[in-house]
Amino acid sequence: MELLVSIIAAYLLGSISFSYVIAQKMMKIDIRQHGSGNAGATNILRVLGKGPAILVLSLDIFKGIAAVWFAKWLEMSGIFPVFTSLGEMDGLAPALAGLAAILGHNWPVYYGFKGGKGVATAVGVVGSLVFFPAVYVGIVSILAIVVTRYVSLGSLIFAAATPILIWFTKEHYGHPDPYFYLTALLGLMSVWKHRTNVERLIKGTENKIGEKKLS
Ligand code: G3P
Repeated sequence: MELLVSIIAAYLLGSISFSYVIAQKMMKIDIRQHGSGNAGATNILRVLGKGPAILVLSLDIFKGIAAVWFAKWLEMSGIFPVFTSLGEMDGLAPALAGLAAILGHNWPVYYGFKGGKGVATAVGVVGSLVFFPAVYVGIVSILAIVVTRYVSLGSLIFAAATPILIWFTKEHYGHPDPYFYLTALLGLMSVWKHRTNVERLIKGTENKIGEKKLS
């Protein structure tokens, strides 16, 4: 029961699209009709500027953190007397809640299931579950963005490298199996969500941050 409640709560929380809300509030526009069409912080940076982008990025990361910690708290609290044997598997409840928050971000129930690419929310989720691997991969991703100015490349590095690092440090940190499976799934989902970015990266026509023009 805890498992189901935390998954539903995480999906509903993840479905709050802060980029959509802030673009509506500030300029009365649907962010999905502007720039790259993605409901995320990078596109907010392009269309609305730095301040709103930092706000969206922080809120999107925060909802990933909140979903995971709510699931952890619910699991420990024993508020609901009925446990499922599935829910008792180590790490499963927070991993599924994290996944649900990202699914909500990418396919939000409140906005016609058209959302973002889930990377900022994944940063919150993965950072809450596996802090040090997330920090190491995060540093490499940020460096890639600073050097190339391709946010999508940094996002793809984060998504692809996290499961690899978790796999190799599993014994060291003692991460439960669901954390690896979650990040592997997130990696695949992220590559799928970034498929047009990947095409542009290969062609050399991907949008760089700081450039207004979109190809
Ligand atoms: O996480 C989104 C980012 O990697 C790319 O965003 O708007 O350039 O498609 P965008």
